[in-house]
Amino acid sequence: MTRITVPALFVFLFAGLFFLLPALAEVDLSNQLVVEEQQFEPGSFESPGACLGCHPGIHQEWSHSMHSFAWKNRWYQDDYQMAHSETGGATDVLCGACHAPIAARTGQLPPHDASRFDDTSKQGISCDFCHTITDVERPYNMGNISSPGNMKMGSRGDGSSPYHGIEESALHRSSTFCGACHNVKHPASDVMIIDTYDDWKEGPYAAEGITCQNCHMTPGTGIGSNPGKSSPMGMDRDNVAFHGFVGGSSFGQRKMGNEEQAKLAEEMLKAAAEIELSSQRNDSQVDLLVEVHNVGAGHKIPTGVTYIRKMWLEVVVEDDSGSVVYHSGAIDEQNHVDPEAVFYRLLFEDEEGNLTGKSWRATAIGYDRRIPAKGSDREIYTLDLPQGRSYEVTVRLMYRSFTQETLDFHEGEDAPRIESVEMARQTLRIP
Ligand code: HEC
Ligand code: HEC
Ligand code: HEC
Ligand code: HEC
Ligand code: HEC
Repeated sequence: MTRITVPALFVFLFAGLFFLLPALAEVDLSNQLVVEEQQFEPGSFESPGACLGCHPGIHQEWSHSMHSFAWKNRWYQDDYQMAHSETGGATDVLCGACHAPIAARTGQLPPHDASRFDDTSKQGISCDFCHTITDVERPYNMGNISSPGNMKMGSRGDGSSPYHGIEESALHRSSTFCGACHNVKHPASDVMIIDTYDDWKEGPYAAEGITCQNCHMTPGTGIGSNPGKSSPMGMDRDNVAFHGFVGGSSFGQRKMGNEEQAKLAEEMLKAAAEIELSSQRNDSQVDLLVEVHNVGAGHKIPTGVTYIRKMWLEVVVEDDSGSVVYHSGAIDEQNHVDPEAVFYRLLFEDEEGNLTGKSWRATAIGYDRRIPAKGSDREIYTLDLPQGRSYEVTVRLMYRSFTQETLDFHEGEDAPRIESVEMARQTLRIP
């Protein structure tokens, strides 16, 4: 196996970002180069098809996971191609390192148009990439070390396979394994673009020893178990690692024809939050206290690319005749959300001080309102509700995996209407 390091790639990458962010040109980026980037011969990583025959169940689950669509999916491609054109290609390898890791580590990326990708490279984050990771040098920006070859790393190490070697890897049982990709740091401004791993690590679940795998590699919501065999020729196990990696992407999954996985994503979203309501009257006004609790996620909700996604509160008040007397967070005819709603998400500040959802332009965090694991968020709505009538309040926590504005921008008049998922709902009567 040839292994060439290519610092030149980074020089190119950072040069592009300097160009983009001249104010940061003075920053010393040498500390970003802790890990020497790894390059292997094309074909060094096996295709998922090579694992299918002996691991059919796992292959089926993985093929419906967002990991398998990490490069191909059109919403990723829309953002990636926009980053490419706005930075003159400086982000090509940066983004591709996580979204097409085999391509990035076998010299097939750049160019960004996938014209040099082989079939394995197109299949996103696949079996052999994860199962030949031997170390994580830093828990962000793809800081994991690959050692492709016949030895497959797994968390058990006690089985045997006629096709490949097996080595026990405690790393595969730990959240650090996921953290190398589920933590994204802007290489020039150091802004944390995605902080799921850091956030988990500082939160209550890490303290209890509950990992990403406990929730995302077991079927269903919460910490499930999945008795069976990982291969028909393998041993009976109490819990075979589930490979569906379900998150919140119900819309994308449904559009790609994976209805079952879309439903799993909706269940995941619904398991994350609960709403608690109370009110206090002051003459003709009522203070409505809305508390949103994060009861099911091991990290903030929302997490991940929250600057592309949207979570918000919808509050509807009806009087006793059924007329709507107050409505916040409504969806209009163009499928846009009321801009005055309470939003839970992250937005960046760009070099001109404007809010942006373009991660490559992030110079600082511009807006951050999210609900911590096992924590809550409080909002008070002051409502004009004259006495002498009764009112019914309905509050819903809503989620979209993309904004309608983003879809409209990329796809124009033919843009699909993004679905809204109700994560939680609560009602209250006000006498
Ligand atoms: C000829 C059959 C066969 C093929 C092909 C095959 N495997 Fe396996 N694999 C097995 C068997 C059998 C086991 C042991 C199962 C057990 O421990 O119960 C296994 C176990 C594993 C483990 C678990 C390691 C551990 O102990 O935690 C991993 C990871 C793995 N295989 C990855 C792969 C990958 C990746 C591919 C494709 C590149 C692949 N396998 C192809 C038969 C196969
Ligand atoms: C994103 C990384 C990732 C991808 C992609 C991935 N795996 Fe895994 N796999 C893991 C991790 C992590 C574990 C160990 C989970 C644990 O022990 O909690 C695992 C466990 C396994 C096991 C052992 C299951 C058990 O419980 O005994 C097998 C076999 C396996 N993977 C095969 C595959 C095959 C085949 C594919 C592709 C179809 C694949 N994996 C894709 C990360 C991945
Ligand atoms: C090689 C980098 C990499 C590794 C390692 C990795 N992930 Fe991912 N993961 C991604 C990328 C990139 C996506 C987004 C794919 C997309 O939507 O285009 C993703 C998506 C997901 C999603 C789906 C999110 C959604 O919106 O539905 C979940 C859940 C997830 N990963 C969990 C994990 C867990 C748990 C681990 C560790 C066992 C892990 N990942 C390891 C890169 C990685
Ligand atoms: C206690 C269970 C639990 C743990 C631990 C946990 N998650 Fe999650 N995760 C959830 C739930 C529930 C959701 C759905 C709510 C949401 O999308 O925010 C979710 C959502 C996600 C999403 C999708 C976010 C989106 O909406 O696009 C990603 C990605 C993810 N988790 C990754 C991770 C990673 C990486 C870790 C470990 C560092 C981890 N999770 C730990 C329960 C958990
Ligand atoms: C260090 C790894 C890493 C890097 C670098 C990275 N991403 Fe991602 N990306 C992820 C992970 C992890 C997710 C899943 C988070 C979630 O689902 O919320 C993701 C999800 C996305 C999504 C959502 C896709 C979907 O289907 O919902 C888009 C779009 C995206 N990334 C664009 C980019 C662009 C553009 C770049 C480069 C400027 C980039 N990413 C760089 C890890 C990375």
